[in-house]
Amino acid sequence: MSDQYDVVIIGAGPGGYNAAIRAGQLGLKTAIIEKRDTKKLGGTCLNVGCIPSKALLHASELYEKAEKQFEALGIKTGKLGLDLGQMLKQKDDAVDGLTKGVEFLMKKNKVDVYMGAGEIAAPGKVRVVGDAPQELSAKNIVIATGSELTPLPGVEIDEAQIVSSTGALSFPSVPKHLVVIGGGVIGLELGSVWRRLGAEVTVVEFLDKILPTMDGEISKQFERILKKQGMAFKLSSKVTGAEKLKTKVKLSVEPASGGDAETIDCDAVLVAIGRRPHTDGLGLKAVGVKTDKRGFIETDHFKTSAEGVWAIGDVTHGPMLAHKAEDDGVACIELIAGKAGHVNYDTVPSVVYTYPEVASVGKTEELLKEAGIDYKVGKFPFMANSRAKTNHETDGFVKILADAKTDRVLGAHIVGVEAGEMIAEVVSVMEFSGASEDIARTCHAHPTRSEAVRQAAMGVEGWTMQA
Ligand code: FAD
Ligand code: NAI
Repeated sequence: MSDQYDVVIIGAGPGGYNAAIRAGQLGLKTAIIEKRDTKKLGGTCLNVGCIPSKALLHASELYEKAEKQFEALGIKTGKLGLDLGQMLKQKDDAVDGLTKGVEFLMKKNKVDVYMGAGEIAAPGKVRVVGDAPQELSAKNIVIATGSELTPLPGVEIDEAQIVSSTGALSFPSVPKHLVVIGGGVIGLELGSVWRRLGAEVTVVEFLDKILPTMDGEISKQFERILKKQGMAFKLSSKVTGAEKLKTKVKLSVEPASGGDAETIDCDAVLVAIGRRPHTDGLGLKAVGVKTDKRGFIETDHFKTSAEGVWAIGDVTHGPMLAHKAEDDGVACIELIAGKAGHVNYDTVPSVVYTYPEVASVGKTEELLKEAGIDYKVGKFPFMANSRAKTNHETDGFVKILADAKTDRVLGAHIVGVEAGEMIAEVVSVMEFSGASEDIARTCHAHPTRSEAVRQAAMGVEGWTMQA
């Protein structure tokens, strides 16, 4: 291997490995460095994030369907049983398969892979610290080191009784009572997994609503749906301490605004109050890479304050999502290669993979009001959608927000089965600066759930036909 590179990428998550692929495609001599103990590529997303969580969400959703929905559909089974060991194994198999896929893609695109911790030693120099120490020279260094859990003082993680999302992907048995601290994406996805498998789940959320950045109406309806499924919520509350007993944990919980504390007894605790940028040991100060107060690397079109050093993905600003990191990676490399790399952050979709799913793109009603933008709303409930009714999956609705004067679509928000697939249509329309009428006059196959998107778009101009 040569140690003279056009691009050295530190971190092999969706930001880093997609940047590496694009760099290989564009003929840049590229290396990627990854420090994960397991020596697997793919970052948080493939190893302990998107992929294992979706493997458990999929399996546990089918388990609950078999338990609660099959009979009504005329399907008889023998006594239903849970083989948790196999469920965890199929999750690990998914991770193995996909991380090996990334290894293959590195080879295919002639990217050199170094295992160890990357440290920027000086401008244009990256040290690989680990079993086989090296020093690499690079015209460009791309930091793609991702994020890590934000700790909660007084609630120490041991990955056994008190876990991060990583521990919650591998509980060896179903906890009787799981308390989730944080009613955000991780809390609701992994809380759903363990509730479906038999745990009593209580979510403690600091703010007065779950998924606080989502459209308010969507968040309210979603909370009602999750409550109906048996999830319990303590909103406007904060956990102030945890006492670990032999097999139990006693949590002190107080109103967020202060007041009398109460104790909640549980068997396990999941801390999911957000993630913070991961920049430990990178040597940022040595080359003058500036971070903001919260530790995020500051960038201008992916360029950091240090010449020849770039940053992408969770470690810099913007939504902490795998597809955002991927798009950052592609655009950053295209800029390095002298092309016109660009990411439209207004059209980055966000999906919560629960049952039903929640999907969102663009502005919420709250943001439009705050910005003083005049808008129109079209809505359509899945209760009136023929496919949803036929499948007995009628929870949720579609909401489209469009500019009152120009009809340009400004946002879309969906609670409903397969919302994550349906949002892609609106993302495309928004990418082309399309109008709600473009969706309303586009032929949608019948019977599909996506007809609800069309009916909601018709609603913007007041001509919803099927409700
Ligand atoms: P990461 O994926 O975090 O990768 C960074 C890599 O850099 C890591 O492998 C790390 O080991 C390595 N690294 C760090 N420092 C160094 C160093 N000094 N030297 C060498 N290597 C280093 N997003 C979605 O879009 N959809 C989902 O469904 C989803 N589910 C999630 C579920 C969970 C439980 C979690 C925790 C996250 C989830 N996310 C999801 C978020 C998603 O995982 C991240 O947004 C994404 O992984 C960010 O990609 P990245 O490349 O910026 O960083
Ligand atoms: P989050 O930001 O989604 O939610 C954290 C929640 O915790 C918020 O509702 C916040 O108000 C609350 N909170 C903060 N401090 C608290 C406290 N002391 N007590 C109680 N509640 C408190 O963060 P989360 O769920 O940890 O996820 C981290 C990141 O990972 C997110 O940014 C998300 O984008 C990404 N992710 C994405 C997924 C997806 O796309 N499906 C799945 C899982 C994670």
